[in-house]
Amino acid sequence: MSQDGPPEQSGIRGLLRALPVFACDLPTFTPHSAPDDPVALFVDWLTSAIGAEVPEPHAMTLSTADAGGRPSARVLICKDVDAAGRWYFASGSSSRKGRELAVNPHAALTFHWPRQGRQIRVRGAVATTGAERSAADFLARSPASRAEALGGRQSQVLDDPAEAEAALRDARARLEADPDLVSADWTLYALTATDVEFWQADERRRHTRLRYERTGRDWTRHLLWP
Ligand SMILES: Cc1cc2nc3c(=O)[nH]c(=O)nc-3n(C[C@H](O)[C@H](O)[C@H](O)COP(=O)(O)O)c2cc1C
Repeated sequence: MSQDGPPEQSGIRGLLRALPVFACDLPTFTPHSAPDDPVALFVDWLTSAIGAEVPEPHAMTLSTADAGGRPSARVLICKDVDAAGRWYFASGSSSRKGRELAVNPHAALTFHWPRQGRQIRVRGAVATTGAERSAADFLARSPASRAEALGGRQSQVLDDPAEAEAALRDARARLEADPDLVSADWTLYALTATDVEFWQADERRRHTRLRYERTGRDWTRHLLWP
């Protein structure tokens, strides 16, 4: 793993180079007939990913940056997408991502559906959606997820796993006593897209990239060099 290793391929370098990419039957994508609205194309591709049994097609990488511009990224579940071009996700506001979004709302989402050689990149500013919608999201979660969100201190240093067990037990008991209890920290966020890019792999490496950019109420479209 040295930075200036020998030219022969050995160890992890050889292993990585031997791995195939785009080695499955890929769908075709004709950008000229793509819809005017990226949300319609997103829904089309998502539906197709679900139909192709892509594992966890609703998982996406959320990239944020702190006040100094240092990035961090993690995988989240996409909760919804609406006609206004807002992508929704939920998390604790005191988590690292929550703290970063509070000081720098600019963020990016990346979906990757390897079985179809597809990637979608979404950029925009993130805002909280308010206590009512956050509470509705919290109450729609499974009991285990609610207990975790209520008792957890996501992203903080965990000195002793026994402390987390005790907090979880306490949260379960509180939720059993009051099933309508909502974590004040739990937040439904919405990223309003300014641009959305659709990337389709091609076995001959003639990949297609189509970017939509928001211009007022409409979207303009451009092909990009791969
Ligand atoms: C498939 C998958 C789905 C996840 N979904 C969520 C989610 O919806 N909300 C969440 O807070 N964390 C989710 N996580 C955990 C996050 O990736 C991350 O570890 C956590 O949110 C803490 O991130 P932070 O310290 O950057 O704030 C998920 C992880 C994976 C692998």
